[in-house]
Amino acid sequence: MNIAVAGVGYVGLVTAVCLAEQGHRVTCLDIDEEKIRLLRQGKCSIYESELEEMMDRNRDRLVYTTDGDEAYRWAEVIIISVGTPEKKDGSANLKYIHDVVRQIARSVERDCVIAVKSTVPVGTNDKLAQMLEDQLRDLRKDVRIRVVSNPEFLSQGTAVKDTLHASRIVLGAEDEQSVDVMKRLYESFNCPIVVTDRRSAEMIKYAANDFLALKISYMNEIANLCEIVGANVEDVAAGMGLDKRIGDRFLNAGIGYGGSCFPKDTKALHWLANYNDYELKTIKAAIEVNEAQKIRLMKKARKYFHSFSGLNIAILGVTFKPGTDDLREAPSLANIPFFLEDGARLQVWDPVGMDNLKKIYDGDLTYCASIEESLLNADACFIFTEWQEIKALDLRTYARLMKRPLVFDGRNCYAPEEAKAAGIRYESIGRSGKQERNVLV
Ligand code: UDX
Repeated sequence: MNIAVAGVGYVGLVTAVCLAEQGHRVTCLDIDEEKIRLLRQGKCSIYESELEEMMDRNRDRLVYTTDGDEAYRWAEVIIISVGTPEKKDGSANLKYIHDVVRQIARSVERDCVIAVKSTVPVGTNDKLAQMLEDQLRDLRKDVRIRVVSNPEFLSQGTAVKDTLHASRIVLGAEDEQSVDVMKRLYESFNCPIVVTDRRSAEMIKYAANDFLALKISYMNEIANLCEIVGANVEDVAAGMGLDKRIGDRFLNAGIGYGGSCFPKDTKALHWLANYNDYELKTIKAAIEVNEAQKIRLMKKARKYFHSFSGLNIAILGVTFKPGTDDLREAPSLANIPFFLEDGARLQVWDPVGMDNLKKIYDGDLTYCASIEESLLNADACFIFTEWQEIKALDLRTYARLMKRPLVFDGRNCYAPEEAKAAGIRYESIGRSGKQERNVLV
């Protein structure tokens, strides 16, 4: 099929390349000329394993352009995957989507289906359909554009796999013809297809993401309580996860969720509820717990230091999770300002996130080429991302290189007994030793 993808950010580019891999001809459109220039040279604009190879393999089926007419004129399906950034009040900013829809109305010359992958508040796709109808009438165009909500569930770092082996495809439509077109688009994908109305499809996306965020915040609270009563949150999670009704994923306690989706989508749904005079208490709690959890290590560190002034602090991992160079809403960013305000010297290591960190903190930090360099002469070490390189580190390295082997691990990378055996004073999440129990039973 002839496909156009509007907005080749994370979701758009991965979707475009995966659809080309399935044999479709895909025109990728973006307003960012530099991004399009790089893509035309075969350079992948995001950090995602396999994607550049796949782009290369399918280069004959992929076109990159900044020209809306070229992309939309003859497309059978137009996928919209532009950003819906958070506004100050927590609501989603729909400006980019509206711009795209206006351009589509001007450019199309045939009947087509618009599939909206951008995460949008419930009711948005109905409004877009109405907007298009009005515009086509004003432009006196005799074409039919149908709007389908087609939310995306891919995760950064595993985006290609998540797309090609999706857990489900959700189609929110108001007519059968557009469902048929979308089913043809996804013909070669072997996964369940959920067909529903547009509003339910929009809600599925928010409800799924917010549920996962809630699951994480719940485990983080259980972890905090485990510390108080002397239990081990990892054992608790293992014992819970075997119950199929709960499931064993997204039960890892840590220093909170970050990234481009959970923080934004929890606030957006909370905003939507408020706007409709309803309070979503569970999601409100998930947001509050996450904010507090991000600085949980800082609270633990205050037991050891009144101030970080003049100290060398090693920071291992800055991205919001491993497998990505993305720093959006990363817990590391909630902590770094505390150290800097206190006058600490920060020795930072991350395998791929440092270029993005440099865009925020240019001269203030020391960027280290290796974990060892970061640990050298450090008074304390903070782990914010569970990169494999950190997990695989010989624990004796800490005692060998640091001035004081004091490690605050926000991602539970090591077993506390092993850290102790390696001579490390070790603080992690939800796993305080029995000796620290302060609840009588
Ligand atoms: C998420 C959803 O998983 C995906 O379906 C949606 O389309 C976009 O948002 P992503 O943001 O890429 O994907 O990352 P994800 O792997 O879900 O992790 C999000 C955050 O939660 C990370 O900061 C991660 O460290 C944290 N997390 C995840 C935990 O703290 N504990 C867990 O058990 C799982």
